[in-house]
Amino acid sequence: MALWDSRFKKSLDEVALKFSASIDIDGKLFNEEIDGSKAHVQMLMKQKIISFNDGKAILKALEEIRKEISLGKLKYDWRKEDIHTLIEERLVEKIGERGKRLHTARSRNDQVALAERLYMRKEITRLIKLTRALQKTLLNKAERHKDTIISGYTHLQRAQPLLFAHHLLAYISMLERDVERLNDCLKRANKSPLGAAALAGTTLPVDRKYTAKLLGMNGVVENSLDAVSDRDVMIELISVCSIIMMHLSRLSEELVLWSSQEFSFAAFDDSFSTGSSLMPQKKNPDIAELIRGKVGRVYGSLFGLLTIMKALPLAYNRDMQEDKVHLFEAVDTTKDCLHLTSELLSRTHFNKERFEKELDGGLLLSTELVDYLVRKKIPFRKAHNIVGQVVAKCVDQNKKLSELSFKEYQKISPKFGKDIFKLLTSRSSVENKKSLGSTSSKEVEKQIQFWKKKLNKLVIRIEKRRS
Ligand code: ARG
Repeated sequence: MALWDSRFKKSLDEVALKFSASIDIDGKLFNEEIDGSKAHVQMLMKQKIISFNDGKAILKALEEIRKEISLGKLKYDWRKEDIHTLIEERLVEKIGERGKRLHTARSRNDQVALAERLYMRKEITRLIKLTRALQKTLLNKAERHKDTIISGYTHLQRAQPLLFAHHLLAYISMLERDVERLNDCLKRANKSPLGAAALAGTTLPVDRKYTAKLLGMNGVVENSLDAVSDRDVMIELISVCSIIMMHLSRLSEELVLWSSQEFSFAAFDDSFSTGSSLMPQKKNPDIAELIRGKVGRVYGSLFGLLTIMKALPLAYNRDMQEDKVHLFEAVDTTKDCLHLTSELLSRTHFNKERFEKELDGGLLLSTELVDYLVRKKIPFRKAHNIVGQVVAKCVDQNKKLSELSFKEYQKISPKFGKDIFKLLTSRSSVENKKSLGSTSSKEVEKQIQFWKKKLNKLVIRIEKRRS
């Protein structure tokens, strides 16, 4: 028996029913479904659309059903089509005719949209918490490496010396924007579509704002057509997940690279490394690689849902049932990867000596010489050209910048004084940076203090909201 079958002469073909059932996916929404139904019943009671006693019986039975599902006592049967049908039929089984009043002034269309929004609200809060935890792990590592100098890269070619803390702090800033994006999405997700009914609203005197308030939502999605047919907030959330995953993939890629024998900058803990079934010596970075690889799932979900929604006429279409596959995949993968990145990173040893050894042979201090000439009032382009000649000489003679003689410098430009040699260390290169947000200890320390204050405060706020 389906919820809608009285107008048909035949029941739905088994194959068609199995094909259209979604309970294996949307079964995950049982808590949201029950929370939404309870708020709906309370509103129906307040508006005297159903009697107080019927409402009370429904509310009690819904809580019992929640327990049955949580304890695995109510089995998910695909013949029940979806979680909404399963719960409603169980309700009627438990309390008979009274249970049949639950669906008054409601359609599965607004019901599904509500459950999805409640789910997104819950998961956005979790995503924020996990992002914050990763930011904290990055901050701990940054504090430990305030003094470690690395070569910064552009085009994966050695560029200029950096404090390793500065490199890690860059990821904290990226993740901060992800949190902002999540919070912004939360504002739009946390609105109630309930009361839109199938698409046109209802003739019954519902109080949509009251239901929204009961659910702690910040208003209603007003236009009833929009309320049941939009999935743009969901697409927005998956987009944010995609951006988070893109950020994690960059960090993972660096970890994979740095843990290679060629770099040897990072060593993973054995508990987060894997071996080879064939080559006994191997210690592989599978976890970082998997995080990098799982981006495919999340980008796939984004394109999956965008494709489902493209050119769909208003309002609800059954195509939209497929939305949850993509939403759950994106959210679950992103949560896992945020968590695993944090765990992996906290157990990774970064090798200060190795980082610093690679600073030696390079020519990555040549920009110091350009700035030196600019301070001597030589136009930047000219200064760049002069230092280019210095670099060419070093390359020819296989020397470091500090190994060219003062005479050779003077031959290239008389503007070079003896004081250039004290500029030619990685430490002075880092410390001489003056601009806001640069890699000098002073600026890096400022950033560390900023994030310490902000992260500690925000984590407390999130925990308070959850309790
Ligand atoms: N399982 C369906 C979904 O998630 C429920 C909505 C069904 N509505 C309908 N008009 N057939 O989309």
